[in-house]
Amino acid sequence: MNQPKILDVDIALVDKAISLWKQSELVAIPTETVYGLGADATNGEAVACIYSVKSRPQFNPLIVHVATAEIARQYVVWNDIAESLADAFWPGPLTLVLKRCVNCTISELVSAGGDTIAIRVPAHPIALQLLKAWNGGIAAPSANRSGRISPTTADHVREELGDAIPLIIDGGACDVGIESTVVDCTGPEPIVLRAGAITRAMVEQVTGLASPAPAAPGAQLLSPGQLASHYAPTLALRMNAMNVKANEALLTFGPNPISGTAYQLNLSATGNLIEAAANLFAYLRALDRPEFSGIAVMPIPNEGIGEAINDRLTRAAAPRD
Ligand code: TXA
Ligand code: MG
Repeated sequence: MNQPKILDVDIALVDKAISLWKQSELVAIPTETVYGLGADATNGEAVACIYSVKSRPQFNPLIVHVATAEIARQYVVWNDIAESLADAFWPGPLTLVLKRCVNCTISELVSAGGDTIAIRVPAHPIALQLLKAWNGGIAAPSANRSGRISPTTADHVREELGDAIPLIIDGGACDVGIESTVVDCTGPEPIVLRAGAITRAMVEQVTGLASPAPAAPGAQLLSPGQLASHYAPTLALRMNAMNVKANEALLTFGPNPISGTAYQLNLSATGNLIEAAANLFAYLRALDRPEFSGIAVMPIPNEGIGEAINDRLTRAAAPRD
């Protein structure tokens, strides 16, 4: 797995990928696990495009890909568990979940509103070549439409997303072929959230720590995207607001926002749902202040990525325990 392949991508193609990422575009890239649908991880609008192109029904957090552990450390709070796992398995099919560091520049949409980032250094030579040239983070879920099988060749990606993205980089068939092992490293012991090529036994051996047994077969693995009230702001939130009270904060959408409160933010004045998704978590956070009685949110069209926005808002508005 860690044997480097003799495989090089044309330097002009690397330049093209970098310039597309700089223009907020998506580029599909090979990794040793599955093909990824990559975007600049610091650019909320580009990240929102990933959800849109995949038709992902909700904001599951995304994995950030980097060239080295040193770059990873610019974005997360590093610790001993991460150090031993990265030392042993990076580059390779292992994703580490760690806390976002102070002043982290990765888009909050990548974390799906949570305070952690899943990050890895892939072992594919072309992915590494691209990431070295990029010198930052690329957010990339598997390059399939939501609910379909992950792609392990460039042709699969073409079948899935061909018309929807400007560039697919062909790096041959993926060596690993199943998605990376995801390990939560934020607590005293490493927890395997998603099984993969790096087994729980390997994680235990390298860290010298016991890893809790996985959930019963068939049980859902723990993922922030599945926790009902995970994204709830402190204030109560009401959706589909057609009016607003003077002491409420207001989140509007589109060219004709309602008015009546001193503090309001527009998710997208032009009614662009991708822009709205990119702004959503940051704006909710900004409005979640004790001087307001609650947050009212104007109706958001339930189409395309609007479904994902409404999914997050529904969770935020759900009754609290
Ligand atoms: O092998 C892979 O990991 C591939 C290649 C492209 O790198 N990527 C991939 O991404 O499988 P995706 O989006 O299909 O799956 C990401 C998984 C999901 O199960 C998600 O819940 C979990 O990682 N995840 C991402 N960020 C997380 C976080 N902050 N905390 C917990 N789980 C996270
Ligand atoms: Mg996937």
